[in-house]
Amino acid sequence: MSRRGKLLTFFLGLVVVCVVFVVARATVLKPTSTIKLAQIPAGEYDPAVWGKFYPLEYRSYQKNLEMSPSPTGYGGSQKVQHAIKEPEILINFKGMAFSKDYAEDRGHPYTVTDLRETKRVTPKSPGACMTCKTANLIDIYKDMGWSYAKTPLSDLFPKMKHPIVCANCHDPATMDLRVINPAFIEAMQGRGIDVKKASREEMRSYVCGQCHVEYYFEPETSRVIFPWDKGLHPEQIYAYYAEKPGGFVQDWLHPDSQAKMLKAQHPDFETWSNGIHGKAGVTCADCHMPYMREKGQKYTSHWVTSPMRHVEASCRPCHDQNPEWLFERVKTTQDNVWQLQHTAGMTVARAHEVIGKAGAQANVNRSGLEKARELVRKAQWYWDMVAAENSMGFHNPAQVLNILGQSIDLSHQAISTANRAAKTNF
Ligand code: HEC
Ligand code: HEC
Ligand code: HEC
Ligand code: HEC
Repeated sequence: MSRRGKLLTFFLGLVVVCVVFVVARATVLKPTSTIKLAQIPAGEYDPAVWGKFYPLEYRSYQKNLEMSPSPTGYGGSQKVQHAIKEPEILINFKGMAFSKDYAEDRGHPYTVTDLRETKRVTPKSPGACMTCKTANLIDIYKDMGWSYAKTPLSDLFPKMKHPIVCANCHDPATMDLRVINPAFIEAMQGRGIDVKKASREEMRSYVCGQCHVEYYFEPETSRVIFPWDKGLHPEQIYAYYAEKPGGFVQDWLHPDSQAKMLKAQHPDFETWSNGIHGKAGVTCADCHMPYMREKGQKYTSHWVTSPMRHVEASCRPCHDQNPEWLFERVKTTQDNVWQLQHTAGMTVARAHEVIGKAGAQANVNRSGLEKARELVRKAQWYWDMVAAENSMGFHNPAQVLNILGQSIDLSHQAISTANRAAKTNF
């Protein structure tokens, strides 16, 4: 072969090697494209049956049953009452169920057990409560439409055979990611997003956004609604509620301040979406369901837990700082947020107390008192949008610290407004 011929062969060879490498990497990076599809029927929800075909995913899913504290000291999967560390909860949620029972969340396989056991749920609770707890929602919604939401929860318990399982996130025929919660699908439609057209990357967060969000039950129907029409920021959601959607005014009336209160529910998706990772397109699954390897096989971890248990797998694909440094960053953010969250919660509690005392004065100016109540409603909303969120601020440190600062300011305004209305100095 001539020298030119040899050179040409060499370069052609190099191109072939490169192409093979790129294709191989792409397939390895996307385990879904390499798995062998099983024939799982549409009504099969038992994860053990799915597990026969997808053993690596199933074995890691089973780890959700383990209960241990989180390495950061925040979150974790043991059923610890929040009020032990945050006694302000007992005052701020006085008059409603969260002051009776507010335990740390735990793994997905426990949802139905925990729903049965929590003191927040009574036989009178609406069926809407099971929306985010079970894959059997698929059939219940198919049979009953939204009318299930008003049906007493106790009537639906026999139909809840499984907690959150494979079928909540996967189409059994294709194993593609899917969402099943009608409230999420409708709320996204309201924002002009058709989830059926979502990309694979988007689905890696949408599957979680089905449940890890703020919501309320529509009066009369108990239908589950996500309050997203004005946007996902705490201020936009507050403005949404201010318009009394569908006649929804309040979750409960605070017995001390007589303020019309809102209860925030775990807005992980909203908080993340406004943060640096959400904006950069880093998905929930990137951190909470990272890729793992076993005997050369790459798979998605289905142990949906604190990413700080496996910083290497969760963070290091994108960050080249060492794991200790990354851990320290998370912990520093959380310690800062925790301190301000506690201060904000205590200041809200004091505002309820002062408004209560001011309201008991005979000569109190009624419209001034009403202003103070509106201020404490907003102060508590801001505090709760952080306190009820699950990452102790990590999902969006800048927004969370800003919102807590505003909460503290609003509580102080509530206190001085109430004192002015009653000419007191509590
Ligand atoms: C909370 C949602 C959720 C649940 C529940 C869930 N998965 Fe997944 N699963 C995912 C995500 C996210 C991926 C990554 C998909 C992607 O990137 O395309 C995935 C990927 C997979 C894949 C593709 C191969 C891989 O490892 O990436 C298989 C197979 C799979 N899951 C099986 C299961 C089985 C079996 C169960 C029940 C035991 C289950 N999944 C439960 C979210 C879930
Ligand atoms: C069908 C609703 C639903 C879906 C879908 C869902 N979650 Fe959850 N998740 C819950 C509920 C409810 C709990 C609390 C369970 C309990 O305490 O019994 C929970 C708990 C958790 C926990 C705490 C686990 C522990 O051990 O403390 C994490 C982390 C979590 N979810 C992350 C995710 C991520 C990430 C996704 C998407 C890949 C996701 N979840 C999808 C409803 C859901
Ligand atoms: C950039 C990485 C990252 C992304 C993206 C991310 N999280 Fe997290 N998440 C964390 C970290 C770090 C914590 C704090 C864990 C700890 O304190 O141990 C956390 C905590 C949580 C917890 C509480 C876990 C517990 O132990 O109780 C839940 C639930 C959760 N995230 C859900 C979500 C959801 C839902 C999304 C997407 C909307 C998401 N996360 C996106 C990193 C991430
Ligand atoms: C898929 C890629 C990806 C993953 C996974 C990821 N990050 Fe990031 N992270 C980013 C990007 C992109 C930014 C934006 C700044 C930049 O470009 O460096 C960022 C920023 C950060 C910042 C700076 C935040 C700020 O507010 O300025 C911290 C801290 C951080 N990440 C920690 C983590 C930790 C801890 C984990 C694992 C739990 C993690 N990240 C996982 C891509 C990722």
